[in-house]
Amino acid sequence: MTISKQYAREILQQAELLYSAEQVQAALQGVAQKINTALTETHPLVLSVMGGAVVFSGQLLPMLDFPLDFDYVHVSRYGDARKGGAMQWKVEPRENVRGRVVLLLDDILDEGHTLSVLRDRVLELGASHCYSAVFADKQHGRKKPIKADFVGMDLPNRFVFGYGMDIEGAWRNLPAIYAVKE
Ligand code: IMP
Ligand code: MG
Repeated sequence: MTISKQYAREILQQAELLYSAEQVQAALQGVAQKINTALTETHPLVLSVMGGAVVFSGQLLPMLDFPLDFDYVHVSRYGDARKGGAMQWKVEPRENVRGRVVLLLDDILDEGHTLSVLRDRVLELGASHCYSAVFADKQHGRKKPIKADFVGMDLPNRFVFGYGMDIEGAWRNLPAIYAVKE
């Protein structure tokens, strides 16, 4: 279900700005630097988790200064709802990960289910190492099954959108990060 444009605008009007576009770009530069330092000697296969990681990936890749290959997987957990549901694979990782250093890119680490299942699959398929980078790490105080190697910024335990993250399918295109009013 696609929400109406009026409803999408209402959501944005009522939302709280958490991080401006400038703050998001500063965090992006920070995480790019950390990745460049750590992976400088590698030639990884970068796997972007569609659709949330599309903006993070598109802006991060030109900042990386080592050779890399690019591919994507597509998994959705939230569907269009605001609560985590079952994981649904649309495009799964494939044999090209065999023997490679893999760098997973995702928009946000919440419960950690998505990224940990993906890491297990990639290692099962024969990747030699699996790193992960997330633009945001949601601070909810519960234990996560995976810790990202590289994190852009921490976010509070709220439903957020913008910078690739959607709210009921909308607003992935926003350059800043908003939280739904509580
Ligand atoms: P996890 O499996 O709970 O870590 O969920 C991670 C996935 O859920 C990410 O790939 C996001 O696409 C999505 N997600 C988690 N929290 C939010 C949120 O606050 N807003 C939008 N998407 C979210
Ligand atoms: Mg996602």
